[in-house]
Amino acid sequence: MRVIIETDAETACISAARIICDQIHKKPNSVLGLATGGTPTRCYQELIRRFQNGEIDFSQTRSFNLDEYIGLPEEHPESYHAFMKAQLFDHVNIPAGNWHVPKGLTDDLTRECERYEAAITAEGGIDIQLLGLGRDGHIGFNEPGSSLASRTRVKHLTMQTIADNARFFGSEELVPRLAITMGVGTILDAGHCLMLATGAGKAEAVAAMIEGPVSASVPATALQFHRNVTVLLDQDAAKLLKHGDYYRMSENAQRIIDNSMGV
Ligand code: PGA
Repeated sequence: MRVIIETDAETACISAARIICDQIHKKPNSVLGLATGGTPTRCYQELIRRFQNGEIDFSQTRSFNLDEYIGLPEEHPESYHAFMKAQLFDHVNIPAGNWHVPKGLTDDLTRECERYEAAITAEGGIDIQLLGLGRDGHIGFNEPGSSLASRTRVKHLTMQTIADNARFFGSEELVPRLAITMGVGTILDAGHCLMLATGAGKAEAVAAMIEGPVSASVPATALQFHRNVTVLLDQDAAKLLKHGDYYRMSENAQRIIDNSMGV
C-alpha cells in the first residue's frame, strides 16, 4: 500500500482528484469506480473545477458506483443516484449512458446484482476505484462479516452505518436498512484502489485497515491483498498508525524519485 498522509483533508481530496485525472490522461476511456458519502464530495468539486478549466475530459470515461440504497426512488435526494448527479454527473461531460449506479428499486434484486457485475465486466473492468472507509471498517456497504471474496449483492447496514448516515436523512429511522453493494471481491478486481479517509472519526478504522490483521470483521483489510492501493489520509485519520513516521518518510522519498523522473 502507498500510504500518503497529507497536511489536511482539503489536500487529501485534491490529491485524490489529481490521481483520478492522471488516470484519465493516461487512458481517456478509463472505467472509473466512484463512491458516495461526505468524504469524496470535495474530490468531486475539484474534478468539476478541472473540467471547467479545460484540464480534463470525461467524454470517453465510463463509471460504476459502489452501491445504492434499496427502496429509494432514483429521484429521492438521498439516493446515491441523485447524489452522484448533483455532486458530479450534472457538471461534467460523462455521457449519460456511460455512468452506472445499481438500481435500488427493482422487483428482482438478485438479477440486478448479476446484471451490475456483468456490466462491469462488459466494460472491461474498473481501472481506478475511489473508496471511502466506514467507521466500522466497511468499503462500499461491505459491513463487518462480509466475505472477502463477495460479489455484488444485498447487505444489511450496521447500526453504526445507520447512525453515521442519519445526518443525511435527518433521523436514523429514515435511513434505509438495506443496500446493493459491489462485493469485496468486485472491489479487489479494480486495477487501482484509491482510498480516501479523513478526520479523527476514521483513525481507528484506518489503523485496522493498514496495520491490523486481515479479517472479514474489518472488510477494508482485504485491500492488503491488492497490489495497487493508494491510501490518502489527513493527519487526524492517520493519528493511530503505528508506522506513521515511516509512511511519511517513504512517501517523501517516493516524491523525490517521482520528481527526478518527471512524473
Ligand atoms: P463518509 O462515508 O465519507 O460519509 O464518511 C464513508 C463510507 O461509509 O464509505
